[in-house]
Amino acid sequence: MPHSSSPSRDAKRVSAPARWALSTVALALFALVAFAAAVSCGGGSSPSDPGANCPSDLPSCPQQVPSYAVDIKPIVEQHCFPCHAPGGIGVGTDGRDFSRYDALHARQSAVLNQVYGCTMPPADGGVAAPVGEQRAAFLTWLVCQSPNN
Ligand code: HEC
Repeated sequence: MPHSSSPSRDAKRVSAPARWALSTVALALFALVAFAAAVSCGGGSSPSDPGANCPSDLPSCPQQVPSYAVDIKPIVEQHCFPCHAPGGIGVGTDGRDFSRYDALHARQSAVLNQVYGCTMPPADGGVAAPVGEQRAAFLTWLVCQSPNN
């Protein structure tokens, strides 16, 4: 039968676009599920998520910048020195000794990321995070480029 092979070749020819369409649908579904998961995480429903109770409160830099000596150093001393002063477990090999102004200033964007993202101090480290006015002052000073004022 000369025509017997023709339908199967046709079937193969249509099956390629069909497979493509199927994988596109699968991809779209996957993206939708991933998106839904991201949205539900953003809502902070998971208690193990470190960002669950982290406020979105990034300030802008006001004219009256908080003073490093008066306002900020005591905050860093209370919340960061336990690990980021000489001998502390957070100092590491690249100088995260935040008892030194220059070390803190040099890492201001990393520090801003960690404090704003509520990832430092670490949740399980036994040191409380700065909250309220302390958090606001620290974030404001960092957003103002951490001056030695
Ligand atoms: C309980 C101990 C502890 C406290 C308190 C703590 N840290 Fe840390 N920090 C660490 C450790 C340990 C590391 C190193 C983590 C690593 O290398 O993976 C670290 C790393 C960092 C880093 C570098 C992160 C990076 O990869 O860029 C920054 C910035 C930082 N801490 C800022 C702070 C600030 C600011 C405070 C105070 C608000 C603070 N930390 C309080 C333990 C602490």
